[in-house]
Amino acid sequence: MTELKNDRFLRALMRQPVAGRYLPEYRATRAEAGDFLSLCKNTPLACEVTMQPLRRYPLDAAILFSDILTIPDALGLGLYFETGEGPKFRNVIRSEADVAALPTLKAEVDLDYVMNAVSTIRRELNGSVPLIGFSGSPWTLATYMIEGGSSKDFREAKKLMYGQPEVMHRLLDHLANSVIDYLNGQIRAGAQAVQIFDTWGGVLITWAYREFSLAYMKKIADGLIREHEGRRVPLIIFTKNGGQWLESMVDVGADALGLDWTTDIGTARARVGDQVALQGNMDPAMLYAPPARIRQEVADILSRFGNGSGHIFNLGHGITPDVDPAHAGAFIEAVVELSGEYHR
Ligand code: CP3
Repeated sequence: MTELKNDRFLRALMRQPVAGRYLPEYRATRAEAGDFLSLCKNTPLACEVTMQPLRRYPLDAAILFSDILTIPDALGLGLYFETGEGPKFRNVIRSEADVAALPTLKAEVDLDYVMNAVSTIRRELNGSVPLIGFSGSPWTLATYMIEGGSSKDFREAKKLMYGQPEVMHRLLDHLANSVIDYLNGQIRAGAQAVQIFDTWGGVLITWAYREFSLAYMKKIADGLIREHEGRRVPLIIFTKNGGQWLESMVDVGADALGLDWTTDIGTARARVGDQVALQGNMDPAMLYAPPARIRQEVADILSRFGNGSGHIFNLGHGITPDVDPAHAGAFIEAVVELSGEYHR
């Protein structure tokens, strides 16, 4: 087993990674790379921006600097980012023929820049804290591939799902196999935990969530390497707005469930018991409040989770780029100081 000085995260206790896109040093490095995607593909600079938050804050894990949309890009869709408009694809998936034409992903070749980033970051971390790898869920990736970018109503994705469910299933199955290959590649390259982001599962009807999102996360869980370097590789699954489905999410077989801020963490714990750890769940917008208010919110979330292990404290969703780094610092400091009494 490789040495790991701080394995608190892997013991699924507290404190978590906060990536660095709100930091001035991040913006400087991104400017050096040219743009966001070039930064993801530049191994030393992707490593540098992964390390930046760890230099500022006492965090218990690092998260790979990359994006969930690397898989569709590698499948030939042509990802680009237009300033202020979010991600976009040059090519979209709309038909049975489009799905049939998708190549089989060979993650270690087609996404070699991600694997290189993982192994470089692992070397740089030098056993200080574990490295989390990640991917989008098949459903979430499918929405971007069908819509051609972000969406408000998911009209095209739902058209395909309800109108030609068998075509949607073929696409999701293709993506599930791609995600398995991609995450196993990250694990072999050195990722010590992996997270699946199901950002858009929460826009589905309950039966459709089970059939079109959850079932494919289960397929991934069943296909992942779950032990590597003599240690368990925990899997975290996160469905934004998925609070009503926690019991079904437990059946996926992940080690932890990510919670957004809309679900009360105390209630969530009562529902899932000790079957999984819970990760979350402060509203990222709380970081705009004064530090004293942030601290009070951290105390409140800790007390609602209560005593014992199995709480990985983090935000309920991604941090917004205009957050004051001092407020992020106050958040992390509060978690460090206030969580001790609950985790004895
Ligand atoms: O935050 C981190 O640095 C950790 C790595 C990470 C990124 N994206 C980097 C990133 C992670 C875990 C993601 C996941 C991701 N990417 C998700 C799922 C998580 C979630 O939000 O639910 C989604 C939906 C995406 C797709 C994506 N990438 C969007 C919607 C955007 C925002 C576009 C915009 O205009 O702000 C991105 C860009 C992105 N991904 C940035 C970063 C740091 C910002 C790029 C920049 O402006 O520098």
